[in-house]
Amino acid sequence: MSLGLARATREADPSDTPETDEAGFLQDLQLALSAPPHGISPKYFYDAQGSRLFDRICELPEYYPTRTERSILSAFAQEIAEEAGTRGDLVEFGAGSCSKVRLLLDALRPRRYLPIDISAEHLEQSAAELEREHPGLLVLPVAADYTAGVRLPPPLPGAPRIGFFPGSTIGNFTPAEALRFLRGAARLLRGGGLLLGADLVKDPAVLHAAYNDAQGVTAAFNLNLLARANRELGADFELERFWHSAFFNAGQQRIEMHLVSRQRQQVAVGGEVYELAEGQSLHTENSYKFSIEGLRSLALQAGFRPGRVWTDERRLFSVHWLHAPQ
Ligand code: TRP
Repeated sequence: MSLGLARATREADPSDTPETDEAGFLQDLQLALSAPPHGISPKYFYDAQGSRLFDRICELPEYYPTRTERSILSAFAQEIAEEAGTRGDLVEFGAGSCSKVRLLLDALRPRRYLPIDISAEHLEQSAAELEREHPGLLVLPVAADYTAGVRLPPPLPGAPRIGFFPGSTIGNFTPAEALRFLRGAARLLRGGGLLLGADLVKDPAVLHAAYNDAQGVTAAFNLNLLARANRELGADFELERFWHSAFFNAGQQRIEMHLVSRQRQQVAVGGEVYELAEGQSLHTENSYKFSIEGLRSLALQAGFRPGRVWTDERRLFSVHWLHAPQ
């Protein structure tokens, strides 16, 4: 699974040591508790425990996006390769364990694979494995925050870059952030293009189930934010006093995740005490859903020329080829 915006924005700044990240978490959490709209960045989900829970989400029976996208990529790898052309650099945004790219390498046959990820350690390991599995492929891991504008080695002569951004991570951005990301990608991939995975609008019951799994893994993932605050900031959240709420906001075309206070209560975070009303919620994440046309017009707005689109039979998920401008 690719890393969310979340992990990608961790340690954006080289001077952003774990200490300052902790200070940022404290500050952002205090702000979220003290004033509406009570929203906090999803990046704080991804400590070691959060990353483990996230990997489990991707395997859940109700969580269709990961397996659907994988099935699309494997079924259409050859067509994707025809559409994308070139044998140059393949750049992945938020590569994580580089698992999805494996479905494309034999068909795309890039000369070099450049996985960008914020977690350097994770990257080095998967890079070495990939090189062993694909003799002749050069893997150049780039430890960086891809939302903050990355520096890449110059593309190979005559071979523009191909980008890969799977997992519908685009949907974890606000629309303005998504546009900004796509504009940056269009510049980076000049003359090439972007292969983008986007989850589709569908029956709200299917969406609802995907973010409210029976085993409660998504709930645990959401609640881990509070557990992390207890571990790292010495906060005193009692997790059983909060419930995981995830619902489809049809007007905004997004799943919203919240942590809702089950009762009137006080919580202490960083020496401050906050009063929470019963039903008060902390908005932890959005996951925008797209129509194929909506995604294409967003891409067009960012300077891409939308190309072929692949979906599964049930039209749950979409994979888009977007031509970058010259
Ligand atoms: N981008 C995917 C999605 O929005 C994966 C994801 C990110 C996710 N954060 C999540 C899934 C939180 C479940 C819960 O679906």
